[in-house]
Amino acid sequence: MTQKLHIKTYGCQMNAYDSARMAELLAPLGYGLTEDAASADLVILNTCHIREKAAEKIYSDLGRLNAVKRARAARGQPMTLAVGGCVAQAEGDEMRRRAPFVDMIFGPQSYHRLPELVARAARSAGTVLATDFPAESKFDHLPEARIPGAGAQAGFVAVQEGCDKFCTFCVVPYTRGAEHSRAVRQVLAEVRSLAAQGVREITLLGQNVNNYRGEGPDGKTWTLARLIRVVADIAGVARIRYVTSYPADMTGELIAAHGEIPALMPFLHLPAQSGSDRVLAAMNRRHGSGDYRRLVDRLRAVRPDLALASDFIVGFPGESDAEFEQTLALVREVGFAHAYSFKYSARPGTPAAAMPGQVPEAVKSDRLAALQELIDAERRSFNERCAGRTLPVLFEREGKRKGQLVGRSPYMQAVHALAPKSLMGLIAEVRIVAGHANSLAGERMAPA
Ligand code: SAH
Ligand code: F3S
Repeated sequence: MTQKLHIKTYGCQMNAYDSARMAELLAPLGYGLTEDAASADLVILNTCHIREKAAEKIYSDLGRLNAVKRARAARGQPMTLAVGGCVAQAEGDEMRRRAPFVDMIFGPQSYHRLPELVARAARSAGTVLATDFPAESKFDHLPEARIPGAGAQAGFVAVQEGCDKFCTFCVVPYTRGAEHSRAVRQVLAEVRSLAAQGVREITLLGQNVNNYRGEGPDGKTWTLARLIRVVADIAGVARIRYVTSYPADMTGELIAAHGEIPALMPFLHLPAQSGSDRVLAAMNRRHGSGDYRRLVDRLRAVRPDLALASDFIVGFPGESDAEFEQTLALVREVGFAHAYSFKYSARPGTPAAAMPGQVPEAVKSDRLAALQELIDAERRSFNERCAGRTLPVLFEREGKRKGQLVGRSPYMQAVHALAPKSLMGLIAEVRIVAGHANSLAGERMAPA
């Protein structure tokens, strides 16, 4: 008997990874994925707690799903409704009161127990709750073999989870728990499994991935740079990325790796958060804006074609107009290829939520608009400067126009080019003829 499973993923790439693993864990129990929540026997919301909006959206989605669940029950088709991820971790007890129709609530460190939790939920009338941080790592309980989506060219592998940095605005240290690295052997097994199935690009994932300290086969603690070198040697792996990094953890060894490992893509997501030293200190970021600038210089010295992406928060408590201007100045100086920017959102239980000088919503909105305008202009300018260059493109899907394929450049830009379908899943050299706001147009180079 097959059962249908619907997973809705909110938030970060770690959640997307976790959702994929949940589906893999439930497949042996006969669960097949469906896009349609209403036809699913088991619905999992894999939630995000990072900003208030993200968390509130869960409750409105739950309300709608409860109506679907009732309609199904009336037809004699029960639906199990489960909430996983960081909202579940942070608000499990409250959620049980606010949405008692939810059958299962489980945190990010408990999803390896899904088969058991599903069985318990079937027997239990109330909500099954699993939000404690287990002493054992879930990674020891996840299958090493992966099931990449059909035709997937890129795959994610979690190497590190959790955060000990405690930026004063952030819930991640509370929802994901302490920093923890996976053993090298487990990581390599997963990469090999993906590569054997045609995945060419591997992104090593972690909340503080550049602070990776996994146990190596030699019993020693391996750094991320060392791990990347070995991943680069795995047959089939053509591209490596890692995300997300903490600036103060960028070691000389890792910077040097960018100049030495061709498979390591020249594109780095390195969140700066602010250009003001006072704000950065109040955020407990452990790096100033000068440190950030020097880091960028060191990276570009070893890899001149390196492009950077960042995250920024506007309207952190106490942020003055002049301090916000320093953020704009940093963005102008570094010239980011891509950046996410957010209005500061006060999160319950974090130190910044209780700080004086909370910034009015209207001021945050103005600052966000100004920053996003600058970031958009920089991205467009970066894309335009790609015109005339020849870039390797990993082709991933068919384009809208006949004969066109769409792939990704080393900088994650979508590249459209006329190309035979036989190039799907392969990397080919493409001459970029135009750069637009969100994509590049290219012409395939004749193979030499
Ligand atoms: N290193 C982490 C970053 C986590 S959160 C990781 O990749 O897992 C992603 C981004 O959300 C942060 O870099 C920050 O810019 C933003 N963010 C985190 N908490 C926030 C808050 N309370 N309000 C607004 N933005 C926030
Ligand atoms: Fe959050 Fe700062 Fe860690 S942004 S994930 S507490 S590095």
